[in-house]
Amino acid sequence: MSYLNKKTIEDIDVNGKRVLVRCDFNVPLADGVITDDKRIRESVPTIKYLVEHGAAVVLCSHLGRPKDEESKKKCTLAPVAKRLSELMGREVKFTTDIIGEKAHAMASGLKPGEIMVIENVRFYKEETKNDPEFAKSLASLADIFVNDAFGTAHRAHASTAGVADYLPAVCGYLIQKEISIMGNALANPKRPFVAILGGAKVSDKIGVITNLLDKVDTLIVGGAMAYTFNAARGKKIGDSKFEADKVDLAKEILAKAESKGVKFLLPVDNVAADEFDVNANTKVFEGNIDDGWMGLDIGPKTRQMFAEAVADAGTVIWNGPMGVFEMAPFANGTIVVAKAIAESNAVSIIGGGDSAAAVEQLGFADKMTHISTGGGASLEFLEGLELPGIACLNDK
Ligand code: 3PG
Repeated sequence: MSYLNKKTIEDIDVNGKRVLVRCDFNVPLADGVITDDKRIRESVPTIKYLVEHGAAVVLCSHLGRPKDEESKKKCTLAPVAKRLSELMGREVKFTTDIIGEKAHAMASGLKPGEIMVIENVRFYKEETKNDPEFAKSLASLADIFVNDAFGTAHRAHASTAGVADYLPAVCGYLIQKEISIMGNALANPKRPFVAILGGAKVSDKIGVITNLLDKVDTLIVGGAMAYTFNAARGKKIGDSKFEADKVDLAKEILAKAESKGVKFLLPVDNVAADEFDVNANTKVFEGNIDDGWMGLDIGPKTRQMFAEAVADAGTVIWNGPMGVFEMAPFANGTIVVAKAIAESNAVSIIGGGDSAAAVEQLGFADKMTHISTGGGASLEFLEGLELPGIACLNDK
């Protein structure tokens, strides 16, 4: 799925038009304060282009998964509108309305170059149901639809896909950037092509592993997922977290990698703990892990092996931490891998979610070629699945 034939904002005349832009403003908040504004910053180039080309801009997004009136209070887009206004250096209007009279009156009163944000589209249950009437009402706020919400492109919701049935629909710069960098890396990688996958479950990553086995030279697996693979290789994993029902699948994947000549690197040593606690006793095990101990990070030999594999890579794709990164004693594997990628000359692509957060926290963000704004969306893209929020856009 390349999507490189999709129309972009530069393929359509926006002058004097009202443009509805779907952003992914689903940002982390602590007590109403935005703790990471990357997704807002990444939406700026598209919004800037539109206002500079004479469009009036109506922005929409979801934030969180509000279920009831209480959770809605915590999921308002008001702080996002404020942050965007600071980043744009101009007024950004905000309405607590979504598809009602107030939103329509504000939208129709917008002059070219003006920007407004409507409230969280998930305040209507019709949004996630991709209800056609709700999509039509959203569409009636504007003349053109721009999807720039890469992080939500894997959802077939009213504001990400349904609305494209009623308006000319193109992608913004963020979606264009995400699909061209990741699409080119998959279709035409500089070799050796190394993928590093971590995180908890084989079942979460099975689609990605299967798709990448046809493309990469080396597949590196760390995180809790690695214990399922090491169990499949007949290693003792002590009390480490693993998926007993996925051991056979892991065996099949290892056999497939071998038949394709893909180098499959798994931890050869681990940092284990006697309980899942930041203050637990820790011990490094080479090969097998004793009962009573659970592996929570890759060990020093594995760190070196993974870093060496990355050092001479032409392309690296990384998704998922190598250990329990949020606890300092088990963060070293993730830190070493992040550093090795940052120091390599490879085209480096970091999938969203935890690995993106780790890279940002460690201060390596500006050393990476691309850090995706999509967690689930980048995984589904790497799996080769159709992303409904992009598939619905007009072709060139
Ligand atoms: C994300 O953060 O992955 C996206 O914003 C999608 O959010 P969702 O998983 O609630 O649909």
